[in-house]
Amino acid sequence: MLVTMLSAALVAGCGGIGQDDLRRGGMLYTENCAVCHGGDAQGGGGAGVYGLSKTPPDLTGLSQRNGGAFPVYTTLETLEGYADGGMRGRQMAGFSDLQGKRKKRVRIDRERARTTEQLAALLTYLSTLQRP
Ligand code: HEC
Repeated sequence: MLVTMLSAALVAGCGGIGQDDLRRGGMLYTENCAVCHGGDAQGGGGAGVYGLSKTPPDLTGLSQRNGGAFPVYTTLETLEGYADGGMRGRQMAGFSDLQGKRKKRVRIDRERARTTEQLAALLTYLSTLQRP
């Protein structure tokens, strides 16, 4: 819990990303992702998993699987692919909720990226869920 709060503060502090973005990211997550990745983002379970050939991965381990740093670009690439209508041969569908015209810069740890407001919020939210 403390870690989550700390990293939320870090993200908020250096990226110009505020609590509103985090809240928005959390809502987008609940509406679009929780059904498969779980309310706690730890993967597996849930009705959405029915019929999938792969278990949705634990999204709190993205940093851990990337040597301790949140994988900003690869995660963004994955999500942008899905936002554009799904990725061929992949299990996740497209999410029109994540599309948008307004772009926003997001800065997580030392990495920066520019994407839609929705994805920036979602990415920020995901980065705060990472376990050390
Ligand atoms: C229909 C179920 C389903 C939904 C809904 C879903 N996912 Fe996934 N997700 C999966 C599965 C299955 C995989 C692993 C296989 C793949 O890559 O297609 C995956 C993979 C991922 C990955 C790559 C993880 C890694 O370790 O490389 C990320 C990031 C991700 N999802 C984030 C999200 C986010 C954010 C949302 C909400 C916008 C979401 N997912 C919604 C099923 C889902």
